Amino acid sequence: TKVALITGGYTGEAEVSLKSAAFVQSQMDTARYDVYPVHITVEDWYYLDAEGKTFTIDRSDFSFVQNGQKVTFDVAFIILHGTPGEDGRLQGYFDMIGLRYTSCNALTSALTMNKGYTKAVLTGVPEMYAAKSVLLFESQRAQAYGMVTDALKLPYFVKPNAGGSSIGMTKVKTIDALQEALDKAYDAEGTGQEVLVEEFVTGREFSQGIFRNAQGELVVLPATEVKTTREFFDFEAKYTPGLTEEITPADLTVEQQERAGRIIREIFVRLNCKGMVRVDFFLENGTDNFYFIEINTIPGQTAQSFIPQQVRAFGMKETAFYTELIEAALV
Ligand code: DAL
Ligand code: MG
Repeated sequence: TKVALITGGYTGEAEVSLKSAAFVQSQMDTARYDVYPVHITVEDWYYLDAEGKTFTIDRSDFSFVQNGQKVTFDVAFIILHGTPGEDGRLQGYFDMIGLRYTSCNALTSALTMNKGYTKAVLTGVPEMYAAKSVLLFESQRAQAYGMVTDALKLPYFVKPNAGGSSIGMTKVKTIDALQEALDKAYDAEGTGQEVLVEEFVTGREFSQGIFRNAQGELVVLPATEVKTTREFFDFEAKYTPGLTEEITPADLTVEQQERAGRIIREIFVRLNCKGMVRVDFFLENGTDNFYFIEINTIPGQTAQSFIPQQVRAFGMKETAFYTELIEAALV
């Protein structure tokens, strides 16, 4: 089976994608799969072989030519965070050329890349809460400040509506910091000039994966608790080993674990997800309510990322996990 491992991307998350893809490749069952890292960048699409040689991808059918032979793929394992691998663009293209892939379909990918719309679709999920928020479009940039201060109470989380890895995100504690935070989020590269501002939820932060295996069953992975000494779980905290304490499996009561599991399953089903996804949430101090932050349909796969941690805590090898995802895509 020939697997195109899709990496790169147009945003600040491209470097994360390269690390994620390198880790996935290192864990692949090579007796079963021939793995070809395919880089998608603004400039070019190419397969990069182990010697560093590049082969341009023919965009009409996602093939390339090696030693005079045309090579096509059986499945794409998309490990490209942000646009165009997590927001439905590649998914739509693969649908059009008839190439199967491991992750959510084009509609679900496009929807979930939009944090504001996702919250709207998930309204009414039993036992799930969401912070009050304002979604700001490009055309509303001049009014954004007033729209936020009219609707929400400080502190705020200001983020690109289609961002990832906390790039362009600011926690705003005093009102004089709001405009700068809005500008930063609006201008974050590759995120489409939309901003989501949310009221801050005081509580513990968790992240939890779920996937559909090759038998079609939903499997909830153990949650991870994130304890950072920084202002919030920002890009530095996410990718600098040791800056954040990550506890997998998280210290949750049986009742909390069961409740989180019900919420996450319901989210997966309602959004018609495929493959693996990861949901980030807060457990609010005092109320013990789970607040949805966002869902990631191409969750990070660096060696220290949450999903690999959770897979190991679940008692599964990453190799077996990635095999499940590929086989589920091929069914
Ligand atoms: N957006 C990053 C890669 C994550 O969710 O893990
Ligand atoms: Mg994210």
